[in-house]
Amino acid sequence: MNASLQQIDIRSHLKDPSLFREDAFINGKWVKAKAGTTFSVNNPATGDIIANVANLNGADAELAITVAEQALIGWRSKTAKDRAIVMRKWFDLIIANTEDLAILMTLEQGKPLVESRGEVAYGASFVEWFAEESKRVTGAILESTWGDKRMLVLKQAIGVCVAITPWNFPIAMITRKIAPAIAAGCTMVIKPAEQTPLCALALAELAQRAGMPAGVVNIIPSDADQSIAIGKVVCASPTIRHLSFTGSTEVGRILMAQCAPSVKKVALELGGHAPFIVFEDADIDAAVAGAIASKYRNSGQTCVCANRFYVHQKVQAIFVEKFAKATQAIKVGNGMTEGVSQGPLIDDAAFAKVEKHVADAISKGATLVTGGKANASGLNFYEPTILSNVTSDMLITYEETFGPVAPIIPFDNDEAVVKLANNSQYGLASYFYSRDIGRVWKVAEALEYGMVGVNTGIMSNEVAPFGGVKQSGLGREGSIWGMDEYLEMKYVCVGL
Ligand code: SIN
Repeated sequence: MNASLQQIDIRSHLKDPSLFREDAFINGKWVKAKAGTTFSVNNPATGDIIANVANLNGADAELAITVAEQALIGWRSKTAKDRAIVMRKWFDLIIANTEDLAILMTLEQGKPLVESRGEVAYGASFVEWFAEESKRVTGAILESTWGDKRMLVLKQAIGVCVAITPWNFPIAMITRKIAPAIAAGCTMVIKPAEQTPLCALALAELAQRAGMPAGVVNIIPSDADQSIAIGKVVCASPTIRHLSFTGSTEVGRILMAQCAPSVKKVALELGGHAPFIVFEDADIDAAVAGAIASKYRNSGQTCVCANRFYVHQKVQAIFVEKFAKATQAIKVGNGMTEGVSQGPLIDDAAFAKVEKHVADAISKGATLVTGGKANASGLNFYEPTILSNVTSDMLITYEETFGPVAPIIPFDNDEAVVKLANNSQYGLASYFYSRDIGRVWKVAEALEYGMVGVNTGIMSNEVAPFGGVKQSGLGREGSIWGMDEYLEMKYVCVGL
């Protein structure tokens, strides 16, 4: 992004300008980087600089870890009910400030305002859910095999945790990690993505207003270079007992290796390459609606976006015709404009990857149905695109595109399509459309994915366990199981 572009005053867009923060948040205080450096945050729709945020380094990260360790003693000894009261206030404040948070999100991330508002609600739902769940942590009393001893299991907070979060969901990917951690009694250091630190900092401001004690939640923004240094510090730290990361499989592998010497627990939400299967008995209109929602949400920049469309030969023509019509109706533009339903890609590297996947597919014989080029709205906007006659030698069928491109691959039998769908190193989300109950059960069971959407293109919410198998990661977020990550079991044997 061109740093010579003008700097806009983001405060003028907000009802509550104090939600705009450029300093880091450590120990309940707004602080500058020790080295005094900052990095610029750009609006991906215009390239404008919208903030100059404290650029923390490894030494700052050490400080955040120390204060989180000090805060742990007080926070974990509170009752779950007391923690829930603070979290509930935080949830109410997030909801009350939806519009400002959505504006910050659209300005730093690019997604349309309507999606940003949706993400604020989605992100807040994890805070509400885990505030409730904190009161339901239960240990166990075991049947003792010794007459003179009693045996029980306690569940206790794992300790100081770190979260390294992505730019595609600047609020929800933070709350999905922070909420179960603090509900369990842990404290946390959060390293938000360099592209989207503003939502993270606004969340910290609201947490403080809700009465979150100093040091429980710490936000350490940094640019890409310092992120690597901070990553090494947090992974090596013996104080940090848990690392949660959402991002690419490539970076997840590195972090996991860096955590090995200190034998840290890791939760990884990594890449995906979701198959989307349309069987011949599918409700085609429903499948088109699901395909639009799954493929083009956040301009195709989600780990659960459909990446490969397998469509039965018998319904291919009608599906492609209807899907193309719906795709052409998508309004691309600056996410701040009401009515826009697709914003820009996050940066020029993301744009270049989409161009590469489309060019590679066309050079190997794919047919361009619609899109296939830059959109006139400005920097890094790409037309919603459909390719047909796609074959498995094309990059797009095995590399994550992270963009608004739908490749269509025809098939003619169930066994073969399930095999194709499972032929991936990834195993996060998968989707299929069918009205045959027998097929629904068989295919849902056969898909090697952590999540299966049947006759729906959207399935994430706070009640469901989000996560993948194979190289899509480890652990689950959200749901009644989401807090398990942040709790240790302790066996207590009492002699009488
Ligand atoms: C992601 O892309 O990792 C998150 C998507 C979701 O929560 O639905």
